[in-house]
Amino acid sequence: MNGRGWTMNDLDGIAEIERECFSDPWTRRMLADSFLSERFEGVLLEEDGRVVAYGGESIVFDEAEIQLVAVSEMYRRCGRGRKILDDLLEIARAHGVKRVFLEVRVSNASAQLLYLKGGFRGLYCRTRYYPDGEDAIVMMRELD
Ligand SMILES: CC(C)(COP(=O)(O)OP(=O)(O)OC[C@H]1O[C@@H](n2cnc3c(N)ncnc32)[C@H](O)[C@@H]1OP(=O)(O)O)[C@@H](O)C(=O)NCCC(=O)NCCS
Repeated sequence: MNGRGWTMNDLDGIAEIERECFSDPWTRRMLADSFLSERFEGVLLEEDGRVVAYGGESIVFDEAEIQLVAVSEMYRRCGRGRKILDDLLEIARAHGVKRVFLEVRVSNASAQLLYLKGGFRGLYCRTRYYPDGEDAIVMMRELD
């Protein structure tokens, strides 16, 4: 499984998986705005020329925030989520990042397990963080 960085041509495929996965998906415009930011780093996996998994993070000085992680439904439970997470952490490390943060829905057990296995721990809850009123768990991992 070889990951690569995003290009503008990937944004439609990423937006399609966003719509498939989330009730509050990032739009193509939101993805493009982030992609064009100097702080943003994105990785993805392709299968038969199509995007099937992707992740994105924002890096500011020695901290990173993982903003996007998703795997198209048919391609889950085969290590792709872990690969995306590992690639994001590797990029963050190469930028000198010391702490990586992310938010995850309290109901999203599969993503929480992915992050716990990836070395993250829960820090605190953000009440009614999501547009539908669900709480978020803020998680953090330190990098050496
Ligand atoms: C969360 C998500 C990215 C995981 O992707 P994936 O490719 O299926 O994950 P992996 O196969 O790499 O699994 C890595 C670990 O995550 C955990 N995990 C992933 N899916 C799980 C599930 N359905 N049930 C329980 N644990 C799960 C397991 O601990 C797994 O390790 P294991 O296979 O050794 O048991 C994927 O389910 C997804 O895209 N969900 C919808 C979008 C989403 O919720 N993104 C996260 C937003 S914060």
